[in-house]
Amino acid sequence: MAHDRQFKWKTKFIATRGVKEYRETIPVWVNQNDVVLEIGCAWGTTTALIAPRCQEVIGTDVSPEVIARAREKHPHLRFEVLDAFDVRAALDLGKPFTKIYIDISGVSGYRSLLDAIALLTMYATVLCPEAIIVKSGALKHFASQCIPWRGLSQVESYAKAAPARR
Ligand SMILES: C[S@@+](CC[C@H](N)C(=O)[O-])C[C@H]1O[C@@H](n2cnc3c(N)ncnc32)[C@H](O)[C@@H]1O
Repeated sequence: MAHDRQFKWKTKFIATRGVKEYRETIPVWVNQNDVVLEIGCAWGTTTALIAPRCQEVIGTDVSPEVIARAREKHPHLRFEVLDAFDVRAALDLGKPFTKIYIDISGVSGYRSLLDAIALLTMYATVLCPEAIIVKSGALKHFASQCIPWRGLSQVESYAKAAPARR
């Protein structure tokens, strides 16, 4: 399903560290035309912050208990049980998601960096959102150290980014 679309997606990835950064992206990245999926919504606090800024939002979490609590706290919003690693179930929600928020316990640290990257590329390839905003301090640090090689014509800009030689 995903293979022939790999490396062709246009999705932007916004890596944030901590819940404050995760939530402060909302007014910048969410607009009234967006259909938003939040993965790892817990009791729905971030879902409720996203809701007034978009056309539609669905909050999801792997835990049926937290989804029950989210529904109690925010009866006007839609919440569903969903395992982040089951992208087929996300596809089956049948929505043209334009933005995806991801905040699942365990994918923020360096030990789960590969899981975080696998998750992001899977969602980008299958659901093709414009942007995925993820809470992962490790990914944020990793991304800040990445420089895509653009050919020898760009050597001067690489030199500026390289550590000074003695
Ligand atoms: C830090 S809490 C989310 C907080 C929430 N985003 C907020 O802003 O209030 C992390 C959530 O990730 C959920 N989670 C852990 N593994 C998951 C998975 N594989 N799929 C979906 N949710 C998962 C947990 O049940 C937990 O509710």
